Amino acid sequence: MIRQPIVAVLGHVDHGKTSLLDKIRGSAVATREAGGITQAIGASIIPTEALKKICGTLLTTLKKEITIPGLLFIDTPGHAAFTSLRKRGGNIADMAILVIDINEGIQPQTKESISILKASKTPFIIAANKVDMVKNWSAKKKMLLQNINDQTEETRKDLDNKLYTIVGNLYEQGFTGERFDRIESYTTQIAIVPLSAKTGEGIPELLLVLMGLAQKYLEETLKTTINGQGKATVLEVKQHEGLGTVLDCILYDGMLNVKDELIIGTMNGPKRTRIKALLEPAPKTDIREKKTKFTSIQHVTAATGIRIKLLDDEDIDITSGMPLITIHEEKEAPTAEQWIQEQITTTSIPTTEQGVIIKADTIGSLEALSTLLTENNIPVSSAGIGIITKKEITDANTQQEEHQCIITFNIPHYEEQTNIKLIQHNIIYSIIDEYKQYIEHIRRKNQKQAMLITSKPAKVQLLKQYLFRQSSPAVIGCEVVEGILQTGAQLMNTKGDIITQVKGIQENKENKTELKKGEQAAISLTDVTIGRNLQADETLYTVIQEEEYKKYKEHKDALTETEKKALKEIANIMREKNPVWGV
Ligand code: GTP
Ligand code: MG
Repeated sequence: MIRQPIVAVLGHVDHGKTSLLDKIRGSAVATREAGGITQAIGASIIPTEALKKICGTLLTTLKKEITIPGLLFIDTPGHAAFTSLRKRGGNIADMAILVIDINEGIQPQTKESISILKASKTPFIIAANKVDMVKNWSAKKKMLLQNINDQTEETRKDLDNKLYTIVGNLYEQGFTGERFDRIESYTTQIAIVPLSAKTGEGIPELLLVLMGLAQKYLEETLKTTINGQGKATVLEVKQHEGLGTVLDCILYDGMLNVKDELIIGTMNGPKRTRIKALLEPAPKTDIREKKTKFTSIQHVTAATGIRIKLLDDEDIDITSGMPLITIHEEKEAPTAEQWIQEQITTTSIPTTEQGVIIKADTIGSLEALSTLLTENNIPVSSAGIGIITKKEITDANTQQEEHQCIITFNIPHYEEQTNIKLIQHNIIYSIIDEYKQYIEHIRRKNQKQAMLITSKPAKVQLLKQYLFRQSSPAVIGCEVVEGILQTGAQLMNTKGDIITQVKGIQENKENKTELKKGEQAAISLTDVTIGRNLQADETLYTVIQEEEYKKYKEHKDALTETEKKALKEIANIMREKNPVWGV
């Protein structure tokens, strides 16, 4: 048995992906005999009969036969979801159509699509769309090549120039492209079909090239056993009225039955459950619309789009791109579980101890975010799927100030009050800008603080039995022996050498700004390694500048007794080095 090839439609925004599919679907429905056109989950099946109607004359002229049972198209609204689909779904798209507006040429998302296709080694052809917009173009009910020949010389030249701009840009991306009728080798050249999703011209040619490629090169890939284990990829996780969470999937191999046992990839590893219901969208409806009707069915075979309701899915954390496989006999379970595990852990995101925390909606977008941050030299300490958790807020708090930041991409915003910097975006490139602004803000704030600070005198005893962390930052318990210790204070040892700065004071996990005589708390200290340049049982004093000391002397009554004591000891230390200090 051969299944329908799965064809992903990609390209830059507004270049006409959906219009192209609409035209194909519309024509397919118009042929009436076609029937059974599902447009689910952005997936549409165009059966052989419909393809024959669309390509009619061209088929007879070229004496071609269609041997595949139709085509399954996947529309891709957002490229990010598609990345994860490709990477995680075990290459479920067999081939692709790259849609390029012929008048605009290759744009950023076109490039992105090309790199995705390149990385996944997916064969593709190019639909050079909107030829009807080429200057003075006249559309006639003729076959494409004939119609191109019938245009005025100027229009023909314009078309050729535009095509060659695309060919040139393709070359920069590492591909050789050529107009489909001038192709010498389909294995080394990318076919470009000029067409219009508006008038429909060129679409039969596009479909024929596509089917020709599938029939020639994909036969092995397309072999399926109709009653084999069902393999699918989650396209989207949705809410279905009355049913709760459902999964819109592409079934690309085997079959699914209601009550089938299966293993699915989740955020917590492979999970075993059962199919409660299979829902098929009404023919020619758009899944994105609320009013779309679904029919409950018992059985479905590859390749198709299908909505799945799982049993006991409350605790299952599934995102798009996750794989699933059914098990018909117990002995299939271990291999199936291993297969799922491989699908969900093929890449790991590099993390370091110090860094920002990142969260995204899918593994694919998390990878994209991680790559972008790495390119900008922003380290990541942890990466995960889903919304921000309380624990992550706490974890972010233990980071250095510039990393006290959680970056999210494409997930619901965290609304609660927090002292952590949150950067929450759906546009990946805005993230870097906002992070840079944040760093600049910290720098300015610290500068300001450094100028404002008038240090209070304090004598501090470190408590070696409360050593929590040796360095970056060091965290240790202390008691204030005299005076008041404040965050930001610089500390020196009994010899008057400046050792470190108090970055934070924490008492029972609460941040404090100061600590009075007799009080104990944990302090974090910068640029110091306990055991190396600071001992865990040392006594430290705040650093008081000579100018500050003189001011204190003038306003003695502003100081408490204990502050006076601390200040006196500090002056004594400083005078060991410089006898006239503060005089
Ligand atoms: P996204 O899904 O947002 O990435 O866009 P898309 O690639 O699906 O583009 P869509 O099909 O929504 O078309 C965008 C606009 O271009 C619409 O206004 C279409 O009517 C128009 N359009 C698409 N194809 C053609 C064409 O062949 N000729 C002309 N003149 N307009 C077209
Ligand atoms: Mg679209």
